[in-house]
Amino acid sequence: MPELEIQELVEAVTRQVLDRLMPAGRAPALPTGPYDPARPLVAANWKMSCASLGLEQYLAELAAADRAVDVVIFPPAVMLSDMARAVVRVGRQDFRVGSQDLHWEKGGAHTGELSGQLVRAAGGRWTLVGHSERRGAGETDGQVSRKLRAGLDAGLSVMLCVGETLSQRRDGSTFRVLRNQLHAAISGLSPLLPSPARLAVAYEPIWAIGTGEVATASQVQEAAAFVRRVLEELLGFGRARDTRVLYGGSVKPTNAAEIMACPDVGGLLVGGASLAGSSFREIVDAAGAGISGRRRQ
Ligand code: PGA
Repeated sequence: MPELEIQELVEAVTRQVLDRLMPAGRAPALPTGPYDPARPLVAANWKMSCASLGLEQYLAELAAADRAVDVVIFPPAVMLSDMARAVVRVGRQDFRVGSQDLHWEKGGAHTGELSGQLVRAAGGRWTLVGHSERRGAGETDGQVSRKLRAGLDAGLSVMLCVGETLSQRRDGSTFRVLRNQLHAAISGLSPLLPSPARLAVAYEPIWAIGTGEVATASQVQEAAAFVRRVLEELLGFGRARDTRVLYGGSVKPTNAAEIMACPDVGGLLVGGASLAGSSFREIVDAAGAGISGRRRQ
């Protein structure tokens, strides 16, 4: 049986099981059409938090956000399927939801873990891999690479996080660290990548995550351009051009526009400021305005 049919079968069975377990209704069939890689991509990483005013209120505030921006929300895993249904209810079927992590195996005895197939069955279309908080909890480069491949294999789009610590920046090894992380995760991936729009790379300097300390626009641009150059080595020029490079680390409504003005930045990965619908919407709108400003130049 071809790989895709098996995947669809696993998905259908998992969906049926989940539907039994969750009487609130089926996880919606979200559109899976191709992305336009020229559109900015802005993602909310809720980590182990949830929106203070609740899901419905959050999405009501976000619903009017700029439609020229691709929005992905990574809620805690237990909220994935509720979120996938709720975005449909507010009329934003174009919002995607995703998991903050996943396991590389399709199933089996892996207590506490989540497979790409389960993420899809719950309505997820994206996954984060290699977030520094997961790497900090012991995740290795090899595991990040397996997770990335497993996500693509399950039909998900994957956002790979890379970034240096403060001491690595201070001792001048930022670019070596970025190159190593990208090579470890992406080497050999090109033939397996169905479309560059299914991969995004988030440059997240660890010293800027949750600290209020933001990289300067020139640091962001320099790192994003470097990531793009390494992607060119690994994926070829055309595919690298169509892979979006994001910045993450203390992004707020007040700095989003300046970061989006960096020519090699195609989007933002937002933690703390994504927990309120109103501030996340301001960031999404700033990203949309930033890109249309760039196109006019
Ligand atoms: P922050 O988190 O925006 O709260 O710094 C970003 C992230 O960890 O993805």
